[in-house]
Amino acid sequence: MGCRVNTGIGFVFVLTTFLLLWKWEQLSFNAALRYISQEKCAPGASQYVILLSYARSGSSLTNEIIAEHPDVFMYFEPLHNLAKMFGLQQAEYEAMTNRHLSLTRMADYDLLANRVIERLLTCDYSKLSRLVSLNHHAYEFTLTEQLYKCVNRSKTPEEETECLRLGQERCRQKPVRLIKTLRLSVDQAGNFINSHSCAKLIFLIKDPRGSHQSKAKLFEHYRQSAADIQRFCWRLDKDLSAAIKLREQYPDRVYITRFEDLAMKPLLASKRIYDFIGLAFTEKVSKFVYDKTHAKKDTSGYFNSRVDAYQACYRWRKSIPLKVVRAYNDFCQQPFSKLGYLPIHLTRQLRNFKVPLLTDGAVLS
Ligand SMILES: *[C@@H]1O[C@H](CO)[C@@H](O)[C@H](O)[C@H]1NC(C)=O
Repeated sequence: MGCRVNTGIGFVFVLTTFLLLWKWEQLSFNAALRYISQEKCAPGASQYVILLSYARSGSSLTNEIIAEHPDVFMYFEPLHNLAKMFGLQQAEYEAMTNRHLSLTRMADYDLLANRVIERLLTCDYSKLSRLVSLNHHAYEFTLTEQLYKCVNRSKTPEEETECLRLGQERCRQKPVRLIKTLRLSVDQAGNFINSHSCAKLIFLIKDPRGSHQSKAKLFEHYRQSAADIQRFCWRLDKDLSAAIKLREQYPDRVYITRFEDLAMKPLLASKRIYDFIGLAFTEKVSKFVYDKTHAKKDTSGYFNSRVDAYQACYRWRKSIPLKVVRAYNDFCQQPFSKLGYLPIHLTRQLRNFKVPLLTDGAVLS
């Protein structure tokens, strides 16, 4: 009998323990859920967008299209002066070692670039360096022009502080902050994405052969040896792999896109970018995109405009040397196949616009 009572007590004890543990499990599970939901971007919170690209890749147009929305506060190439500051160090390194030192491989640059991005996107201008406030790109855009002028005019530290405070106010009035930059790696942008749940990355790529030819025409001393092409392809591959990995982690926060798609279907591609950011693609924005991407004199309708856009996008095919194209075949094989850029082997294929250079890109968003 006593034995049975003991068993009863034992049973109750075990049951209670089990229930308590179960409840505790549930509680901590809920706590974990709460923790995860805190990691989500809260509705109504400010959004941070980094538009990352390479030189001559159509990022200015893409940037303009996003910045057209009245909710967006945009800062154009904020790392311009900072990058210049490291230029001497790069040149010295190259002179001494005969090897290229890329900006994004310099730890000091990384650190300072991260700080600039953090401050601009979160509208924290309290200690904004003059490298940023007096960036000539700031002067070129309405949203940041006043900041430049005010700091440039200020005669005392107090006056400058007041300029920064006003600039910060203007920034805070807009719920979406955008920076467009060439001077950052996807890994660096990834650090910011990791630490801010409302941060998004748009990685924009244009056919590197087109960017190449555009730079060759624009810059007298543009280096275009096989080694330079190899280095670019290596960087593209590294950035692209990093973007794909980051997107696996944050599917809604990383967007990989090609400029060719924007050039050929501007309205569709712009709307997709707006959807990704979570901005309404209004009638006004759509008209802006149309006007930006269609020649004024062309009133013959959409079809002809699309043909024009195609011609414009591939104008480089007329002048790029075959040996350059071949170097891209060799060194950019990996990123090209992921992005849907097709290799060319013969001059007559290169110059014949009917031979397509673009196919579906497996890794595009
Ligand atoms: C900046 O200040 C200098 C000297 O006061 C002036 O000459 C220059 O025009 C200013 N720049 C701009 C863009 O306002």
